[in-house]
Parts: sequence; C-alpha cells; structure tokens
Amino acid sequence: MPKHGTNRKAGAATRAIHLGYDPAEFRGALTMPMFLTSTYAFETAQHGANIFAGEAQGYVYGRTKNPTQELLEVRMASLESAEAGLAMASGIAAITTTVFTHGKSGDTILVDQVLYGCTFAFFAREITEFGITTVFVDMTDLKAVEDAMKASPRMVFFETPANPTMRMVDIEAVSNIARKAGAIVVVDNTFATPIIQRPLEMGADLVVHSATKFLGGHGDLLGGIVCGSSELVNPIRGRGIRVLTGATISPFNAFQILRGLKTLKLRVNAHSQSARLVAENLAQSEKTTSVIYPTLPDYPQQELAAKQMGDQGGAIIAVRFDGGVEAGHRFINALDMIKCAVSLGDAETLVQHPASMTHSIYTPEERAMFGIDDDLLRIAVGLEEVEDLNTDIDNALSQI
Ligand SMILES: Cc1ncc(COP(=O)(O)O)c(C=O)c1O
Repeated sequence: MPKHGTNRKAGAATRAIHLGYDPAEFRGALTMPMFLTSTYAFETAQHGANIFAGEAQGYVYGRTKNPTQELLEVRMASLESAEAGLAMASGIAAITTTVFTHGKSGDTILVDQVLYGCTFAFFAREITEFGITTVFVDMTDLKAVEDAMKASPRMVFFETPANPTMRMVDIEAVSNIARKAGAIVVVDNTFATPIIQRPLEMGADLVVHSATKFLGGHGDLLGGIVCGSSELVNPIRGRGIRVLTGATISPFNAFQILRGLKTLKLRVNAHSQSARLVAENLAQSEKTTSVIYPTLPDYPQQELAAKQMGDQGGAIIAVRFDGGVEAGHRFINALDMIKCAVSLGDAETLVQHPASMTHSIYTPEERAMFGIDDDLLRIAVGLEEVEDLNTDIDNALSQI
C-alpha cells in the first residue's frame, strides 16, 4: 500500500492530487508510475506461500491487486469519505460484483425504478435467475419505501440524480428507513460525483460509480469503483466475486482515472456552471416543453436538491420538446458541434434519446410506468465554451 503523501483532512482537490503517494518512493517521479505487470515474482517459494496464506503482505497477480489500482482506491475512498475503495473494470462491474457479494439466493433487493438501462436490466432480468428477488419501488415515495421493508430486504439500491430523468431520492431518509430494517444501502453517485454529493455522509453504506464518466472525465476509458466500510468492501475484494469473474480494472485505466481525479473538482464546477446556463437557455425557448435541471427555479425537488447537492446541479439536463420524439430527433440532427452519443462526464457535450438508446432495454411499458418518456432527451454538458454550446443549441432550436 502506498504511503500517504498528504493529510487526509486536506481539501478534496488536494487529496485528489497528493493523497497516498510520495515521489521519494519512486526516484522522485512526480506522478506515480503505472504498474504494467500481470504477475509478481516472490522472493522464495515460502514467501509466495505465505502471501497466499495471508501471513505476509505482497502482490501476487494482476487480477487480485495492482499498486496503480490501489492508489486510485485510496484517493476515491477519501473523496467519498469512505474507509475503503475497490476499483473495477467498469461501473457495471462495480454494481454487479457488489450485489453478487452481498446478495444471496433467497434475498430480496429493493431497487428504485429509474436507473441506467443496463443496471435496470441486471436487476430486472438477470439477477432474478440466481434466486434473488428484485422489488422495484418508487423511492421518491418514502411511504412506499417504508412499506417495502416488510419484505426484509438485504439491500436497497438507487441512483440520485437518476439517469435519465434527473429525479432525486432522499439519501438520508431512505438510509434511515433501511437501517432500521437492517438493509445495506447502495447509492450510485455517478451523476453527482463526490465533489457535489457524498452519500456515505448521509447514511448510505456503499457508493458505486461508473468511473467511465466524470472520474475519468475524458471519454477514453471504462472503469468503476465501490467505496464504503472495509467490512463491506473487503468481501468484494478478497478472493470473492470480483476476482472470480475477472472484473478487475486494468492498471492503465486506473492510471488514467488517477489523472482525471486531479482535475475532478475543477471540471465538475465547470460542468455545473455551463449546464446551468445551457438549461436556462433551453428553458426560455418556446420549442421546449420542460427542462429538468437541479438548480433551475422550477426543479420539482428543489429542497432535496439543495440538501444533497448544495448549489451545484452537475452536467446533466433532461429536456422535452414541443412536437415530442420527432422534434427531439430533429433537434439532435440539427446540432453541429454537440454530438449524439451515449455516456456523460466527458469534455465533449453529448446528447442522446434514452427511450431508443440507453434505456431501450426497458420495455415500452416499463418506461411508461416509470416516467422515462419517449419525448425525453438527455444532454450531458461538457467543457466547451458555454457561448459556443448555446450558439449550437439556438441554431438547432431554430430548425425544429
Ligand atoms: C448512472 C450510471 N451508473 C452506472 C453506469 C454503468 O457504467 P459503465 O458503463 O462504466 O459500466 C452508467 C453508464 O452509463 C451510468 O450512467
């Protein structure tokens, strides 16, 4: 484990840059070198056997742990106010290994209704094949959450803000209810990042991320991470599901995410500032019928947004157009600089149509039930000059 190069109480940006690394350890290299090795040589046969037996510290093989991955885990755990972190090959790997480790056949898991499409498909269609019962609950309705506790769930899982509708779940309130029932609360914090929102400080037990998004920040990698207490993270790490399914992150991806973390705070602040201005611009257009963004004055859950996310709304805007799906498609096709692509948290601003793209894995009936409407577009505001974004948007609006 790397030494800690800075005070754990330093500010978030400082910890994201310095924590856990001392250049003196590696010939003064300012950036910790990347460990591109698949295996590690033991000093002696007995040394190897001792490491396997847990009687000596050391590295064994790339699928179990790697120093680059460990530094990422130290920094992300610190940013999320967690004791431990475990980086993985993708956000979905972080979610599935967490659920498979802590959920067993016969368990019930309560899951919010509005989730990233593949997360939804995992809970709705795949995990049920392993004897786990998934109960979808509208977690914005605390009474419904209370009632659902009668099923004695092992785990409660939600995203907030949720992909793609931007509705929020009250982390503190749901965690309080779940704690009384003995359930583990897992929050997907991908949209907000720990710069804006730290679910563990509000009572959640585990936080998961698609590091592919803001943590990496440059649209050039896949990664995921889970953070929480050692008691909950270590069983996922150990010789458990992550190692047995090969969901390990590559050292190269861990290195890139470490680079991303160094500018996370700056980038998230810039994403939020621009997204607010883009959201205001979209909202004042007669061509849009609704613009959902946490810091806009008409955001339906304003009090909760302020409590959980403070004065930052993040990068994501949900928007509907007069003229429905066709108008939305015309808007996308009329954009020039802004690209039609899934993902978010990149430097490039991206727009996509959830019903036919990221959330097409929900059936039309499920989308209708859960409010993922056909006329909704998701815009992930990037880091370009906001004037250029609004010029592109105004041009496109004038054509629909
Ligand atoms: C909120 C959220 N969670 C998890 C994931 C899955 O992450 P990954 O694509 O890194 O597996 C995504 C992907 O879009 C997401 O938006």
